[in-house]
Amino acid sequence: MAHDILILNGPNLNLLGRREPDVYGRATLADIKARCRPEAARLGLGVECRQSNSEGELVTWVQEVPARFAGLILNAGAYSHTSVALLDALRALNEPLIEVHLSNIYRRETFRQHSYVSMAAKGVICGFGPQGYLMALRALAAMLHHAP
Ligand code: DQA
Repeated sequence: MAHDILILNGPNLNLLGRREPDVYGRATLADIKARCRPEAARLGLGVECRQSNSEGELVTWVQEVPARFAGLILNAGAYSHTSVALLDALRALNEPLIEVHLSNIYRRETFRQHSYVSMAAKGVICGFGPQGYLMALRALAAMLHHAP
């Protein structure tokens, strides 16, 4: 049975492509989704992508993971740096979490250099643009297929 992975994107990531393109590039969220699907299929994974600007909705979706998904890829946007609620939801998961950021948050403002999400993540990928989501899928595939 194929493992299903949930990819969650947080606030303002619906604006990708026209939001600060010098920082986040020209690819839209739809472009990223279109790149993730074939990569997931190649890796023997199913994938579902969702985006919300609402912290509460993201928390609710994280809580759905155990019932439906084998792993989670999360770009929580600015909530990464602020949301204890999201951290608490993530800490309740046993499924692996990979945190992704398009930009290299460690080259940016100091307030971006701390992430609550990281405290619950297996690993963090940042600075590689849309490629980061594909890298996260590969990391999860390796973890799930090679699990004892
Ligand atoms: C981001 C980095 C965050 O600091 C920022 O608030 C975002 C996008 C990224 O993908 O680089 O919204 O998560």
